[in-house]
Amino acid sequence: LFAGQSEFLKGVVAMSGLPEADRVEVCFAGRSNVGKSSLINALTGTKGLARASNTPGRTQEINYFTQGPDLYLVDLPGYGYANAPLAVVEKWQKLLKRYLSGRQTLRRAFVLIDSRHGIKKVDDEIMALLDSAAVTFQCVMTKADKVKAKDLDKVMEQVRSALSKHPAAYPEIVMTSSEKGEGIATLRSIISGID
Ligand code: GTP
Ligand code: MG
Repeated sequence: LFAGQSEFLKGVVAMSGLPEADRVEVCFAGRSNVGKSSLINALTGTKGLARASNTPGRTQEINYFTQGPDLYLVDLPGYGYANAPLAVVEKWQKLLKRYLSGRQTLRRAFVLIDSRHGIKKVDDEIMALLDSAAVTFQCVMTKADKVKAKDLDKVMEQVRSALSKHPAAYPEIVMTSSEKGEGIATLRSIISGID
């Protein structure tokens, strides 16, 4: 699947703007600044495809990327950004909820978790939403290059324990660093194995 080219298709601000559900898609969810856009760039091997930024809340739309002819990669707006105006947050949340629970061709949600921080309350809330929508989700740890091995053990324990409470959680956790390339090939092969 990842042999083909990747292109930005469109940014969506309402359910009515979603592209036709004519192929499998996977989405990337996570707190603002966790590294969703960077991960999509790493997966597709296309620098600058998804806009990555130091400014949290950069991605405000549901961004669709094609990966070859048979797959969509979907970059979701980051959640849990405290500084965004309430009205904006509420609008995103509504769209996020509608998308996550109502998209027929969504096969798996990847929930990105910062390797330094572990699972926060907002992550847990998204996971609960995915449980109730019966969307299988898988945890992807990001920024592995930024955490020391001894600190990671503790975080992973917290993540495993939190995941065990979510029926829709896929047990395998993927460690990644978009910066160093760690885990990117693994994640590609996981996505390629989803039908
Ligand atoms: P929003 O769109 O705001 O929700 O953010 P995002 O989740 O798309 O995060 P983005 O990819 O824009 O990355 C946020 C910041 O983290 C950027 O400064 C990235 O360069 C940095 N970053 C992302 N992945 C990694 C990584 O694997 N290692 C390191 N060291 N930095 C990373
Ligand atoms: Mg982004």
